[in-house]
Amino acid sequence: MASTTGLIIRCRAVVAWEAGKPLVIENVDVAPPQVMEVRIKVSYTSLCPTDFVFWEAKGQTPLFPRILGHEAAGVVESVGEGVTGLQPGDHVLPYFTGECGECTHCKSEESNMCQLLRINTDRGVMISDGKSRFSIDGKPIYHFLGTSTFSEYMVVHSGCLAKINPAAPLDKVCILSCGISTGLGTTLNVAKPKKGSSVAVFGLGAVGLAAVEGAGISGASRIIGVDLNASRFNQAMKFGVTEFVNPKDHDIPVQEVIAAMTGGGVDRSIECTGHIDAMISAFECVHDRTLRGTFFGNYKPRTDLPPSWRWRKFITHRVSFSEINKAFDFMETSEGLRCIISLEE
Ligand SMILES: NC(=O)c1ccc[n+]([C@@H]2O[C@H](COP(=O)([O-])OP(=O)(O)OC[C@H]3O[C@@H](n4cnc5c(N)ncnc54)[C@H](O)[C@@H]3O)[C@@H](O)[C@H]2O)c1
Ligand SMILES: [Zn+2]
Ligand SMILES: [Zn+2]
Repeated sequence: MASTTGLIIRCRAVVAWEAGKPLVIENVDVAPPQVMEVRIKVSYTSLCPTDFVFWEAKGQTPLFPRILGHEAAGVVESVGEGVTGLQPGDHVLPYFTGECGECTHCKSEESNMCQLLRINTDRGVMISDGKSRFSIDGKPIYHFLGTSTFSEYMVVHSGCLAKINPAAPLDKVCILSCGISTGLGTTLNVAKPKKGSSVAVFGLGAVGLAAVEGAGISGASRIIGVDLNASRFNQAMKFGVTEFVNPKDHDIPVQEVIAAMTGGGVDRSIECTGHIDAMISAFECVHDRTLRGTFFGNYKPRTDLPPSWRWRKFITHRVSFSEINKAFDFMETSEGLRCIISLEE
């Protein structure tokens, strides 16, 4: 096959033209990677609620047209000037928040908020020159979270990529690139429950169930799952939830229900819904209240990845790239956990 290094690649990508409007598969031009950038052939991607939130763009300054997607796995096609440690053919996971390795945050054991590459939801361009690498008929299409994985090829800063073992199945490990690592790290790196303690987890989607897994690994003896959707409960039991509370079943606030169940409150509470009412309840159901927020479960994305073997059970659906709107339907109806979208079909 002829090399595409240094050339524009025309490929299929899913473009969100306007907030909340159906996504359209278009032929887009993907420019070659510039200084410290890498062009990736995306093999598999999945849909995270954060994509959904920025597609709906409610209460946000809209940035369209845009190519969404940030949870994925792929193969390096070519590298730009200055990139070391990555070469064509390497298998990689992209990240919405990066690790430059040089700044004070990257050098601190306590922070993963890299000063150069930390998450920026408003930026739709590359940091090296303030331009997009995607275009249609010369008109720029914005990036999303420095990634844009709903495209057969994408350009990303090399500090937002982790090289992985080529034996790892790309159609499964892609879910480590956001949600699963976030939930697991939130428990293991941030909440740090002690053996024998009680933990409440609000929201039993993929992030919440990964947090539940983390509570199990930590040796928590009571893991109380809280969700408004009763259909989540059976599934959650397989992940280690020991008791369930549906706030809809009670006339008093859920924090009071949990306090009564635990003699004054749980030892740790982990909020994985993204909703303010759940955040308040999660804060108020802990007996000793300290509040911490986290991006990506405090993992440093390039040097700190969790092991991948336990996470396959989070994959509940698979669709081809041309069926991507189905993945949005599954999310809208809260069906399943993660839907893998194959760009190989
Ligand atoms: N901070 C980060 O780094 C990061 C990374 C990934 C995802 N997220 C966010 O984490 C959240 C969870 O992601 P997910 O993939 O598990 O989503 P999901 O939609 O699959 O699951 C969320 C669950 O929360 C439940 N829920 C909603 N409101 C609730 C309430 N008030 N009380 C109890 N349960 C409630 C829903 O019924 C659903 O089952 C999303 O908001 C996502 O944007 C954050
Ligand atoms: Zn995500
Ligand atoms: Zn840094």
